[in-house]
Amino acid sequence: MADNTKHLWWQNGIIYQVYPRSFQDSDNDGVGDLKGIMQRLDYLQWLGVDAVWVSPVYPSPMADFGYDISDYTGIHPLFGTMQDFDAMLQEIHRRGMKLILDLVPNHTSDQHPWFLESRSSKDNPKRDWYIWEDAKPDGSEPNNWLSVFGGSGWEWDEKTEQYYYHAFLKEQPDLNWRNPEVQEAMFDVMRFWLDKGVDGFRVDVMWHMVKDKQLRDNPRNPDYKPEMATYEKLLPAYSTDQPEVHDIVQQMRQVTDKYNERVIIGEIYLPIQRLVTYYGPNNNGAHLPFNFMLLNLPWDARTIAAHIDEYEGALPVGGWPNWVLGNHDKSRIGSRIGLEQARMAAMLLLTLRGTPTLYYGDELGMTNVDIPEDQIQDPQGLNMPGLNLSRDPERTPMQWSDKENAGFTTAEPWLPLSDNYKQVNVEAQKKERESMLQLYKKLIELRRSEKALSIGDYQPVHTQGDVLAFKRIHDEEQFLIALNLGNTTQRLNSDPEKLSGKIVLSTDLKSNTQTFDGSIDLQPNQGIICKLYTKYKL
Ligand code: GLC
Repeated sequence: MADNTKHLWWQNGIIYQVYPRSFQDSDNDGVGDLKGIMQRLDYLQWLGVDAVWVSPVYPSPMADFGYDISDYTGIHPLFGTMQDFDAMLQEIHRRGMKLILDLVPNHTSDQHPWFLESRSSKDNPKRDWYIWEDAKPDGSEPNNWLSVFGGSGWEWDEKTEQYYYHAFLKEQPDLNWRNPEVQEAMFDVMRFWLDKGVDGFRVDVMWHMVKDKQLRDNPRNPDYKPEMATYEKLLPAYSTDQPEVHDIVQQMRQVTDKYNERVIIGEIYLPIQRLVTYYGPNNNGAHLPFNFMLLNLPWDARTIAAHIDEYEGALPVGGWPNWVLGNHDKSRIGSRIGLEQARMAAMLLLTLRGTPTLYYGDELGMTNVDIPEDQIQDPQGLNMPGLNLSRDPERTPMQWSDKENAGFTTAEPWLPLSDNYKQVNVEAQKKERESMLQLYKKLIELRRSEKALSIGDYQPVHTQGDVLAFKRIHDEEQFLIALNLGNTTQRLNSDPEKLSGKIVLSTDLKSNTQTFDGSIDLQPNQGIICKLYTKYKL
């Protein structure tokens, strides 16, 4: 069925995540900044993305590299000034692009004035803005909840003799979202940025925001293994994904709905059936609850096909899908599945139905960078040594050119660069006909020019073995996408009446324009987008 309803920018557009510390340094202190982002907007426009999501740039002691915020309406001097921010927003809008900010409402920094007040005394008016609890009679923590970053989720405060809860670092105390004053304060923060013209928010750890009122113990995880993060010892049944969180999300949505076409994206790591509840009962929740399945699933055609179908089937009527291949918390796709398959992943991301989010550098095939033990910066890695949990490897500087420090900075970069940057960089790949960057650019161009690919319906195609295939359909236009997730040649066969057409893009960027009639051979690690000549189903 053709969808002729109007699609909004966050539905037919492509989102690009910038990790600002690592994108472009303009003042030569080794850390990226807002002016740096501004210098690179032409590149993003050339690439063809529609919206830029920038990870936190607010004042922060940087215990968690900006996800510990001490002022929600300021800019950290490391990144620039509010004038720089305004100029960047203007430049983004001037290019017809959108800006999405990171909103971190679950917790503040322990240096935020709200927390400093809250911890000053038990009867401070802001005491109840955070989650304070008495010790058990034996002096131990109020319950067994664990911190995602290792150890207990509770920190003892000597002065006021209570524990406070922190789902992440002890420097990131959780706000008490049951308190209406907290809600209003954060909605004011949202309005501050919306009034400036920001186009939406990526809401950090949305599913953590409300905790069980009775603070019941979390159950043990029967599948826990010692090589897993300590947090995984328990199932966070009472500390996350509580029913009341949906009221909060709906209230956030009411705030953005007062403005024109703003978006709420929720960071939510949950199984599909739980994830889709964040659209809200009447699509009045998050516009895009982030769908992270491609980050987590084993790279196997049958598993992925089954999950795509499950997701498509689970979406509420009117709920718009979305897909993510990488972010600043997860291993780079090129390292996880290898660079040959990363080309399949790119094609998948940009042909599935729903808004794609790209992580900076993945368009070059940047891979995880080994960071020596003594240079690890990420608190998750430092707190749980030996478990390979540091997120530094996927946060290294963007590789722009073969010049000093890949053109990122002339100072010592805050994280080491990959030693492959002389070959793997934007300048080189712009010139190379078959580079990963060219593949991304062509996929984006095709998606932008073909309605079937951006807003068309999704239809699974039954295949076997290593082949993942589906169709995208809009009015009379039909595209077949077929990806070989294995390393042997695979044949797709059907009635010529149903399977004839021409290849419009191949991941090797070589076999484009080849026609076929009844069967197609997919080379090892090859993915193709085909325009079908027929209206019939495969
Ligand atoms: C989110 C962010 C991550 C951060 C955590 C705590 O998961 O993506 O980088 O460490 O929240 O704020």
